[in-house]
Amino acid sequence: MTHFGRQAPVAGVEAAQIASAKQVLPGGALGGNALPESARLVISHGAGGRFWDTSGNCYIDYALGSGAMLLGHAHPAIHQAVAAQALRGVHFFNYLNETALQLCERLQRIIPCAERIRLTTTGSETTFHAIRLARAFTGKPKLLKFEGGYHGTHDYAQLATAPKQVGNDYAPIPDTAGIPDVVAELMLVAPYNDLDAARRIIMAHKHELAAVIVEPIQRIISPQPGFLEGLREITREAGVVLIFDEVVTGFRHGLSGMQGRTGVTPDLGCFAKVIGGGLPLAFVAGRADIMDQADPGQKGTAGYVYQNGTLQGFPLGCAAALATLDVLEAPGFYETLEARAETLKRDMQAMLDRHNMGTLVIGQGAMWNFHCAERAPRNYRDILASDTGKQGAIDRGLLAEGIFLIPGTRRFVCSEHTDEDFAATVAALDRVCATLSA
Ligand SMILES: Cc1ncc(COP(=O)(O)O)c(C=O)c1O
Repeated sequence: MTHFGRQAPVAGVEAAQIASAKQVLPGGALGGNALPESARLVISHGAGGRFWDTSGNCYIDYALGSGAMLLGHAHPAIHQAVAAQALRGVHFFNYLNETALQLCERLQRIIPCAERIRLTTTGSETTFHAIRLARAFTGKPKLLKFEGGYHGTHDYAQLATAPKQVGNDYAPIPDTAGIPDVVAELMLVAPYNDLDAARRIIMAHKHELAAVIVEPIQRIISPQPGFLEGLREITREAGVVLIFDEVVTGFRHGLSGMQGRTGVTPDLGCFAKVIGGGLPLAFVAGRADIMDQADPGQKGTAGYVYQNGTLQGFPLGCAAALATLDVLEAPGFYETLEARAETLKRDMQAMLDRHNMGTLVIGQGAMWNFHCAERAPRNYRDILASDTGKQGAIDRGLLAEGIFLIPGTRRFVCSEHTDEDFAATVAALDRVCATLSA
């Protein structure tokens, strides 16, 4: 039987690497997600739903590249496609190449809102460009987002993403230093899943509101029946562009994302993560009249929208995306993935209940999280009001058991997780709950 997690205190090469990282990288981290000091590790390699640290310890991975690795690590189909493309050239700037065109033709058939497609490289770029396109199209400056929604790293996205203190109002509180106050003046914030509040704000500001941006599943919170449909209706009535940020839900919750699943077609959709199979590939899809503002033939005209990027349409990423689509389009892929994820969630819930942990396992499809409260959350404030201290303790316990997750945030299931991975996860949860109950 495989042992998961660190088998001995960190030492040797891995300890030296962690120390070196602290000299080279801010906080010893590659980005905004440093692990707690006690759980620091250096990843060596991954395969399927697992990875190994440089001391040789194995972990079951539920962070999965922040959701990008729906097919797990080192999937042979992606590996082969990338290797074959690498022999033919990986990058030709954004001049038309046949691999990119093939991908876009295929995406256009799959994504309901995709009258046109623009490839980009990250989710953040994608939401940034969608917002610019919407502003140009409507000639209006403001953006409405939902409190607790995440749309990337740029200034227009880093407001009201995870406010620690909330008042009675829904305010565009910056999540980071370095954003000029003037940006917040361009942002309106509403509670997720509250259609009446959204209608009030949209109608009151429709003369200055360019777009509403929404994650169709906000982080881990599912939309209430009618919420997305209602947003569609209200934005259409108000002359406001509706942007679905499907960076996470795209290709995870079905081939055509939440727009396919719900039948609600936004004006613009933002996609990243899963489609690139772990390579930096993302795209904006949307209505032709909005997207065609980015036609380079219009350069120099008043309505032209600049949309560009060095790696846009790079064939290496497009080859990975085509290989990803081949796997996703196999009959029964999503049914199997979701049925397996439901089994894991059901077994974890049973274990939490057995220990009277007062904790729910929440999340739709191949996504889950713990929620230490009596009822499932409907918005960000429900999560803020839950027992996050208890959740942190469960998460840290699981991390120590080699169940790799980002504390506090949602976690993912991939197609390559095995029955052994799931059984080991539930067994680890049993031990963590026993310790915490004691
Ligand atoms: C819903 C959503 N939108 C946008 C982004 C930004 O994507 P990226 O990190 O690729 O810039 C993320 C990243 O997690 C996301 O979850």
